[in-house]
Amino acid sequence: MTLSFALLTALLAGAVTASAQFPGQAQPQHFAWSDSTLSPDARADMVLKEMTLDEKMLLVHGQGMPFGQRSNKPTESNGGAGFTPSISRLGIPAIQMADSAYGVTRGNAAGRYSTALPNNLAAASSWDPDAAYEYGQLIGRELRNQGYSMSLGGGVNLPREPRNGRTFEYMGDDPLLAGTLDGNVERGVQSQHIIGDLKHYALNDQESGRNAVNVNIDKRSMRETDLLAFQIALGISDAGGVMCSYNRVNGDFACENSYLLNDVLKKDLKFKGFVLSDWGGTHSAAKASHNGLDMEQPGQVFFGDELKKAVESGDISQDELNDHVHRVLRAIFASGLFDNPVVKQVPDVEGGAAVAEKMAEKSIVLLKNNKVLPLGASTRSVVLIGGHADKGVLTGGGSAQVDPPGGSAVPPPAAAPGQMSFMRMAWLPSSPLRALQSRFGESKVSYVSGDDLDAAAAAAKKADVAIVFGYVWESEGMDLKTLALPDEQNKLIETVAAANPKTIVVLETGSPALMPWIDKVGGVIEAWYPGIRGAEALAKIVAGDVNPTGKLAITFPKSDADLPHPTIVMPPPESQPHRPAPGQDISSFMATMSKGLPPFQTTFDEKLKVGYKWYDAEKKDVLFPFGFGLSYTTYAYSGLSVKTGDGLSVTFTVKNTGKLAGTEIAQVYTSLPDAAGEPPKRLIGWTRVDLAAGESKQVTVPVTQDRLTIYDEASDSWKLVPGSYSVMAGGSSKDLPLTRQVNLQ
Ligand code: BGC
Repeated sequence: MTLSFALLTALLAGAVTASAQFPGQAQPQHFAWSDSTLSPDARADMVLKEMTLDEKMLLVHGQGMPFGQRSNKPTESNGGAGFTPSISRLGIPAIQMADSAYGVTRGNAAGRYSTALPNNLAAASSWDPDAAYEYGQLIGRELRNQGYSMSLGGGVNLPREPRNGRTFEYMGDDPLLAGTLDGNVERGVQSQHIIGDLKHYALNDQESGRNAVNVNIDKRSMRETDLLAFQIALGISDAGGVMCSYNRVNGDFACENSYLLNDVLKKDLKFKGFVLSDWGGTHSAAKASHNGLDMEQPGQVFFGDELKKAVESGDISQDELNDHVHRVLRAIFASGLFDNPVVKQVPDVEGGAAVAEKMAEKSIVLLKNNKVLPLGASTRSVVLIGGHADKGVLTGGGSAQVDPPGGSAVPPPAAAPGQMSFMRMAWLPSSPLRALQSRFGESKVSYVSGDDLDAAAAAAKKADVAIVFGYVWESEGMDLKTLALPDEQNKLIETVAAANPKTIVVLETGSPALMPWIDKVGGVIEAWYPGIRGAEALAKIVAGDVNPTGKLAITFPKSDADLPHPTIVMPPPESQPHRPAPGQDISSFMATMSKGLPPFQTTFDEKLKVGYKWYDAEKKDVLFPFGFGLSYTTYAYSGLSVKTGDGLSVTFTVKNTGKLAGTEIAQVYTSLPDAAGEPPKRLIGWTRVDLAAGESKQVTVPVTQDRLTIYDEASDSWKLVPGSYSVMAGGSSKDLPLTRQVNLQ
């Protein structure tokens, strides 16, 4: 009790000191380091030389939890999750951080609007790096508009546990797809002179007991899966920040884990930016500092006075402190933030909505179509059933929550005892009913809630087509118990399908969903959490104005029992107070967490077999495979040739064999020689091919050598295993009609 009060005081003390020292924004002035022709490193070094110890200390920790309108909010805080103050004497701007995975958060608290994009897993289903870049650009632009200078987003953890309540914030099964898309999102963010971020480094793959869990995993498995996704994202984005995660990995907390931070991230991946702890994820001063943590957030339990004393006593060297500070300064220069100070502006609401709609069109996945879609002009009546389809579309919750303009379109259910305020279900005002009415005519499209099964069946019977909306809400701070739709939703779908064979199910989920009714319905569309223009994009797909192109970035298994871990390892009581006690102040809660909860163990014994690699290796049938998605046209593949050299050059022809123009996401996989000990295949590239009806195109997918290597633990390096590789091309991980053997030495 006494200790947590002391820690709380320490957390809040910094807030008072810093705001008194550094009120207001940095003034435009000329400094030697204002010369933008110099490298970010050179500029950072110049500043560093001028800094006092106290100034350096300001850049290695946060100032408390300056949320929204808290009474103790430091003057300079912009209301985001954390910040470091400006140092006006040296022209160093504040780093104002805001959560922004699928849009800028905490709009409600600040009375600001931001665009809710489709969630991150949805964006990954576009397989479109350019669209991902635009997505990031929008986030960066709106952060800047609102006075922020750093994004807290960029989630790229792999779904070792797809029931993880944050699966919607991540980018799916495959390190190449997730890393490429996330890297482009962050590249887009940084194009706006905003510091980008990748998180949660690493292996924070379940929310249950996230502050305590110790993940046991061998080096090869982490390097080739979860860490590879970070490596690829970093290579593309050169993100200024990496947020280390709450969990332990092989015994040490991720934020004081020398292997993860020093050996891999800083040495091997040559990360030049700064590592910031997840909120309350710092657990020591000297150990964390030695092991690679550069900045504690959101407070200064360890990286305030304790770190300063350690520097003064020589326990932490000046060089080590300088390296932390240099990294923060470098990110300020490298992102362009120093040269382009943040200027607030009203965001372009319509422009943002257009980006959101385009991404929704590209990310919605058509999973089943028994000739029920698209709905033709002759459709006389459509009834929408359930899922609040009259009001809006669902969003993912937690710190990523983008607040709906005008408040949630559907009132959230009453909060459960102890439920944190950021865990309230929120619906965006993008109404499928209104969108479909405006497309087909008001009188043709109606809605029933689905609360009454008989009424739903009767309405479905009367209509030409019934569209049932199913949803699963997800949030940080919880895991799903099952991938099944909750409540009575399966029953509703079965009842409607029994009444009308032309039943289409639209799902709004952040993870894969189980579909016990799959053989009974005519069509299934996975819309994810489709964002502020989700309904409009959905209506275009339903009407056939847009030909669907999205493909699954994550495997849909047949049952929970087929997952690598049929049940989630839950924390024992002593390891689980990861929620504030009723009435407990968030800062005091964070301080309690800083002490470190007793560990409990989970072992990622699926090792390399993450996502589709698990089902392939275990020969388990899936509901819908990774890479799968239908279109209103069809494609045929032919003529595969593979050139070897430095990597591969994979050439084949894709033909649009249907009657509509479309875009096919053509995928390339390879198997590795047996001696490699790898799962049956891995994705090594893809391309999006635009094809008019009847058109053929020859495409070439370049594959760099590093997509073919394995991580060799003994030599601590990546190696090509000599032997025979089967290169495969086709429309999904389970539909690969073309194969060529190549020998690589
Ligand atoms: C989350 C992070 C987030 C941070 C700040 C933590 O609870 O895990 O993803 O960026 O809070 O809001």
